[in-house]
Amino acid sequence: MPTMPQKVYIETVGCQMNVLDSELVIGALRKRGYDLTDSPADADVLLFNTCSVREHAEDKTYSALGRVRPIKRDNPDAVIGVLGCMAQKDQDAIRKRAPFVDMIVGTGQLGAVPDLVDKVRATREPQLAVSLGRTDGGRNEVEASFVSYDPARDPSMRPTPFQAFVRIQIGCDKFCTYCVVPSTRGPEQSRPPEHIWNEVRQLVDQGCKEVTLLGQTVNSYVYESGDTRTRLSDLIAGMHDVAGLERIKFVTNYPKDMTDDLLDAVRELPKVVKYLHVPVQSGCDEVLKRMKRNYTAAYYMEMLARCRELVPGVSVSSDFIVGFCGETEESFQKSMDLVRAARFKNSFIFKYSERAGTKAADRYPDDVPEDVKKRRNNDLLTVQNENSRIDHRAQVGKVVEVLVEGPSRREQRASRDREAPGHVTQLTGRSMADHIVVFDGTERLVGHTVRIAVTDASPFTLYGNVLTDEIVGVEATDREPSREPSTSSTNHDAGPRPDRFSLPLV
Ligand code: 5AD
Ligand code: SF4
Repeated sequence: MPTMPQKVYIETVGCQMNVLDSELVIGALRKRGYDLTDSPADADVLLFNTCSVREHAEDKTYSALGRVRPIKRDNPDAVIGVLGCMAQKDQDAIRKRAPFVDMIVGTGQLGAVPDLVDKVRATREPQLAVSLGRTDGGRNEVEASFVSYDPARDPSMRPTPFQAFVRIQIGCDKFCTYCVVPSTRGPEQSRPPEHIWNEVRQLVDQGCKEVTLLGQTVNSYVYESGDTRTRLSDLIAGMHDVAGLERIKFVTNYPKDMTDDLLDAVRELPKVVKYLHVPVQSGCDEVLKRMKRNYTAAYYMEMLARCRELVPGVSVSSDFIVGFCGETEESFQKSMDLVRAARFKNSFIFKYSERAGTKAADRYPDDVPEDVKKRRNNDLLTVQNENSRIDHRAQVGKVVEVLVEGPSRREQRASRDREAPGHVTQLTGRSMADHIVVFDGTERLVGHTVRIAVTDASPFTLYGNVLTDEIVGVEATDREPSREPSTSSTNHDAGPRPDRFSLPLV
């Protein structure tokens, strides 16, 4: 008698690394015959891929687990798994707060998920697989306990079939005092370039046009083998000419490792997106010192100037933490000054969240009150938003190349019939400088690069018209029939679809 395929449900919190990890876990389970479901109540296996970078992210997972409790009660055979950063860091807390969890699997052990599911089924015993802590052994031992996990890719898990993340590095060795990542993701280890190039070729064979190279400090990538030293710039050069690959992005950059060879590669190689995410975190030297970021505000501004000099037209975005331990009003004003002067395309601003086990939690009291953190967050955002508006307005009148990702958020909400061929809908994609662009076109443009004349801008979105008959890099037969440029694509409340690609990375 044929058995019904088992169903797996997954929820992912956190950065692009987690999105990629979830793709890989699902890819591996599909190979074992599982189908994906978006209904937790129908699932045989329920997985929660977690983030520990801020308390809020952990709260999200605990409340998701709370919602699972009745499902497990109705279906005691369901296997519940907690994966990723919280699993690595908080095994005991998870078991206490959610004793019905069957499986706790750290970031460095995700390859074991399918076997662990089988083991839970066979034994009904909880399964735990985590890597060594940073002080639980010698460097080599700890490194080896975090397995780089990049086998089965699963195109159906990707936000779009033509965009994919590729991990080039795991872990982090920077030990910023506020950050839990060096513990949850282990020592920094770069993957061999051949593995990465092969993976990129395989993705392109599957129809992928854009790869985003992932690392916590991606520009620290270096792989040494014999006499050969491969830097990020060499790695990119080595994949640049893969036929069919159109765009190469990389996140997240560490300011001290922004070397000229990389900036030269970004300028010279046409497929490399002219966009750099380089978190500054604070504009105050004392705060940066307590954060152990290893640079001053002046150093950061010089680096920024160098980026703009070596890569004309480059967009830069940043992360800030407000309300870090000991941040006075005066030190906060230095972050305000920096954000004013830096003219970032956009910034992600976070309220400091104390993380147990970090140096900051050990050394410095979390002494900025929550309401002050909130106010500083809003103040910084107000200045950044004004700069985002200026940055986006400066694009009006230009022609930008956009890789079309799909319907805009407005269209996703609307229940219109989008099946009819030639139906004009509102689409969204990104320019080569990472601006979100919204415009009217048919769904046949999705997955293609088109030229868009930018006619309007809001602080976060460009609006424009497809230049007739201007699909870049495809055969004429694939082209949308010519039509007059639309004049109705300046709907300011349209907004892009949920942004799955510009979440900051740690
Ligand atoms: N509290 C608040 N924000 C944090 N980040 C990292 N750790 C913390 C923390 N403990 C922020 C940094 C990083 C981004 C991804 O998250 O700005 O760049
Ligand atoms: Fe590493 Fe980034 Fe965390 Fe610093 S903030 S420790 S560079 S992951």
